[in-house]
Amino acid sequence: MTLRSVIKGTGSALPARRVDNAELAARVDTSDEWIVARTGIRSRYIAGEGETTATLAVDACRKALEAAGLQPADIGLIVLATATPDQTFPASATKVQAMLGIDDCIAFDVAAVCTGFLYALSVADSMLRCGSAKRALVIGSETFSRILDWEDRTTCVLFGDGAGALVLEAEDGDSGILATRLHADGRHSCLLYVDGGPSTTGTVGKLRMKGPEVFRHAVVNLAKVLGEVLDDIGLSAADVDWVVPHQANARILDATAKKLGLPPEKVIVTVDRHANTSAASVPLALDVAVRDGRIKRGELIVLEAMGGGFTWGAAALRY
Ligand code: UT7
Repeated sequence: MTLRSVIKGTGSALPARRVDNAELAARVDTSDEWIVARTGIRSRYIAGEGETTATLAVDACRKALEAAGLQPADIGLIVLATATPDQTFPASATKVQAMLGIDDCIAFDVAAVCTGFLYALSVADSMLRCGSAKRALVIGSETFSRILDWEDRTTCVLFGDGAGALVLEAEDGDSGILATRLHADGRHSCLLYVDGGPSTTGTVGKLRMKGPEVFRHAVVNLAKVLGEVLDDIGLSAADVDWVVPHQANARILDATAKKLGLPPEKVIVTVDRHANTSAASVPLALDVAVRDGRIKRGELIVLEAMGGGFTWGAAALRY
């Protein structure tokens, strides 16, 4: 028997306010036609007063715990992936811990931007398998609306806010996380970054991106890393039941699936409704597809993401 990290429950949360493309077109020089044609995005959710990365994360965690039939006190580890923490410190994971009413557990944030959830999942999986805890909450939560330049039409139409969470439990068996692969190449940090920070400008800063360059790297890196995790488990694209990708652009999803020879029907797409929610996008999309009944127990799922750094990664799991 092999000890694996098994998904016991999933949950997600979105802010109350939905913003469609027409509303943005009234604010910057863009159009619904351009946004849909170039990205596939039709709407996004934007956090309002009182909605933060930590509050969205807590909502997602409560739903994941309920789906798992567990209580907050059953959790020994919280790993929260975010590039938009409530504060520079303490880690938003500790705010989540306090809001859930967990007296003592391991809790920390992971910063790998849009790949953050894959990094968090891989770290939590390693910690569970080496016995640091029995059960973990692994979260991706973001409020990217707060670091957008709302005058910059090349970025402000692309992102949204939200959170997704998984309950993982270490268990002997064949189900669970089978392999993870993580990468980073810091030479490309100037293509996708925030122009501020506590140690440089002393400000929070705004997101800046050279979209077409990021696009080109994304398709190559994502197809490659998905091939790597499948090689690790000795399976091929034909064995995959579902791909749950980072939701940056419908054209990236199509191009990556095509490169791997995966039919588009096997790709979970939520970018049309949620836009790019950075570290939240993979667990949000996973929760949507679990709850609408597409993803079923026993199926082979691959997750992938790519983002600022550059960072990129993938995971293969038997749900
Ligand atoms: O999550 C992290 C990973 N991020 C990504 O993977 C994002 C990757 N990049 C992309 O998804 C795409 O590159 C974008 C959606 C960001 C941009 O699409 P594109 O097809 O690469 O467009 P472009 O940047 O080459 O711009 C084409 C034209 C430009 O006008 P000119 O110079 O041809 O006259 C832009 O100024 O579209 C213009 N444009 C817009 N027009 C209307 C750029 N943004 C907009 C806009 N509305 N919002």
